[in-house]
Amino acid sequence: MATSKIVGVIILCFALACYKGQNVTKDALAPAEKIVNVMSFGAKPDGNFDSTQAFMNAWRIACKSPGQNKLLIPQGRFLVSSMYFAGPCMAPLPITVQVVGTVLATTDISDYENVEWLMFEDIDGLNLIGGGTFDGQGHNSWSRVVDCEKTPSTCIRNPSSLFFNKVTNGVIMDIKSLNSKGFHVFVTNCANIRLIGLHITAPSTSPNTDGIHVSHSTHVRIFRSVIGTGDDCVSIIQGVKNVTIERVDCGPGHGISIGSLGKYEHELEVREVRVLNCTFVGTDNGLRIKTWPDRYPGAASNITFHDITMQRVRNPIIIDQEYQCSPANCQKKVSLCLSPFFIL
Ligand SMILES: *[C@@H]1O[C@H](CO)[C@@H](O)[C@H](O)[C@H]1NC(C)=O
Ligand SMILES: *[C@@H]1O[C@H](CO)[C@@H](O)[C@H](O)[C@H]1NC(C)=O
Ligand SMILES: *[C@@H]1O[C@H](CO)[C@@H](O)[C@H](O)[C@H]1NC(C)=O
Ligand SMILES: *[C@@H]1O[C@H](CO)[C@@H](O)[C@H](O)[C@H]1NC(C)=O
Repeated sequence: MATSKIVGVIILCFALACYKGQNVTKDALAPAEKIVNVMSFGAKPDGNFDSTQAFMNAWRIACKSPGQNKLLIPQGRFLVSSMYFAGPCMAPLPITVQVVGTVLATTDISDYENVEWLMFEDIDGLNLIGGGTFDGQGHNSWSRVVDCEKTPSTCIRNPSSLFFNKVTNGVIMDIKSLNSKGFHVFVTNCANIRLIGLHITAPSTSPNTDGIHVSHSTHVRIFRSVIGTGDDCVSIIQGVKNVTIERVDCGPGHGISIGSLGKYEHELEVREVRVLNCTFVGTDNGLRIKTWPDRYPGAASNITFHDITMQRVRNPIIIDQEYQCSPANCQKKVSLCLSPFFIL
């Protein structure tokens, strides 16, 4: 029943957006909902003006006022640098962020020292919807990425576009992510998150631009999405339980990966990952589980792959237990497979 309620709300939002145009302040169809338009806080839809402060001021009002609130990013192109959408929000109801237009990241990489581009944190109940685009404008930052596994001392991690930390009961739906600097979507310390109808795009040559990266999270559903990027379409690492990835089209990219695991001490397990009805076209890998050999203990269990279509995939199924192994950096001793896996 929760699903039909959410669908209802979203249909209402679209109807309103068409009906009232950009400056919706009072909502006749759902009087309880207060709409906080970033334009009312000085944001300019010209793609040049730095609207960071306007967005942050609008977020504070939307998040910290009682009642049902919606932050609206209307039609237009809004340039912003790193932003922190911090909770907890005041209303017991989910907060909605409706993105109709395009949000552009500033291109100066020095704006992102140790910060992500758009960080959502400590929020219980978040709807990020609206059909709009987050354009990370990553081209400048890709050239500085080096191979982190080979030269960890000079490793730089580019900022993720949409970073969710400690978000529970979230719906991220009908959102486009384009040319992220680092990962497109990063989900960590989250529970009950649904990512539906995402459209994630970056060139196949863009380094470390994982589509959706999940760690330390439970009950995550990735559904009906199209991901074409330069690294893994979906990557899952430690501390993840109960993830369903269904009807995802992946390519170009490095496939759907679990791991690498066993790299760090006290690593948490990965359990119950289901990949259903997914399609891979022109990817390096299809379904991959990668672990470091003989390093630290860890486990991945109850992983199911069902109804998968692959076209032009170099390694359709790859269980690599000697990930990044060379005589110099690890001993040649494979991880133990405690229980068999089945290909039916
Ligand atoms: C929206 O509001 C801004 C100021 O808040 C105003 O300048 C602009 O003309 C309004 N646009 C429309 C379409 O009403
Ligand atoms: C797994 O997560 C889904 C939401 O994605 C939830 O509906 C389901 O109850 C969870 N299953 C278990 C066993 O917790
Ligand atoms: C995949 O989709 C088909 C068609 O919708 C459906 O019949 C089938 O049960 C699905 N497979 C899984 C594993 O969900
Ligand atoms: C695997 O997951 C199923 C539910 O999807 C559960 O019933 C079963 O107990 C799990 N097995 C293990 C070994 O965790």
